[in-house]
Amino acid sequence: MIDKLGRKIEYLRLSVTQSCNLNCVYCKPVNKSAESEVLPVACEKLTPGELETVVRAMAALGIIKVRITGGEPLSRPDIIEIVKKISTIQGIVDLSMTTNGTQLPEFAYKLKDAGLMRLNISLDSLKPERFKLITGIPKLGRVLEGINIALEAGLSPVRINTVLIKGINDDEIADFMRLACDKPLEVRFIELMPIGSFGEQNLDKVVYNSDIINAHPELVRCEEEYSGQPAKYYNINGYRGKIGFISSLSHKFCSSCNRIRLTCDGKIKPCLGNNGEVDLLEVLRYDPGSLERVIKKAISEKPGGHNFGKDFSSARNMNMIGG
Ligand code: 5AD
Repeated sequence: MIDKLGRKIEYLRLSVTQSCNLNCVYCKPVNKSAESEVLPVACEKLTPGELETVVRAMAALGIIKVRITGGEPLSRPDIIEIVKKISTIQGIVDLSMTTNGTQLPEFAYKLKDAGLMRLNISLDSLKPERFKLITGIPKLGRVLEGINIALEAGLSPVRINTVLIKGINDDEIADFMRLACDKPLEVRFIELMPIGSFGEQNLDKVVYNSDIINAHPELVRCEEEYSGQPAKYYNINGYRGKIGFISSLSHKFCSSCNRIRLTCDGKIKPCLGNNGEVDLLEVLRYDPGSLERVIKKAISEKPGGHNFGKDFSSARNMNMIGG
């Protein structure tokens, strides 16, 4: 579907749960009201059948790419069934997942067999102690093992998403880049967005991608192959993988945004940096005949751009959106 601003909307980010087995600083609510200190993990979730129905309806309207997100998607017991169902929908040509990687040693081959094509793995430190500080859980070894098994299972490309936070992990930039040396990994640096109270309260801890690029003259810009997505990719001579930069703050890419999100409780979120939502759960359960009309309306109402840097406070923490 083409939205009001002429953008072709063809990418769905599908959050299947708010639960996560990690507790990363930028995902969990801090310093908000006492009641929101606990992640609201127990919400009404769409069933595998309902997810399939929604994706099928969206595919009929032009969605061709689906990324499964969370929370942590692998914490959902029926995740393989969900992947299988979505992978068989006609029109979906690209099916991927974002995961924290801790359960990949068990799941990588099963996901590949179920029809998943590729994987993004979130990883913010290569130092065990610091990994625990950022995520709350000492599982760096499992993630590193998971990355290797994902490559071995043939999920391709495997991308590493790293959110840099000044004074916390920005001394590891070179170590992260080196991950792409011997392995065909795409290592991507994501600017910390003001979503959730950590991001909102740490605007001064954003590491701007342009500073990294300027400090690393060995980075050579890749050409066209990677157009149509927010990451800008670079090669390093002799490296098997690539380095990517997602600069949501310094280089707003809203004018080419091609995505919508569905939260696990069934709300379409047309823009990450706006609080507008359109409910699909009720429609799915009580008025399925209106599904297509409501999806079309949600897409047509997609805002022109995010509100980061303005007086914006996200109504949902990142675990409730899926990035
Ligand atoms: N800013 C930038 N990236 C974030 N992510 C989670 N929260 C933020 C934030 N506030 C990242 C995760 C994951 C991806 C989906 O989004 O690390 O890799």
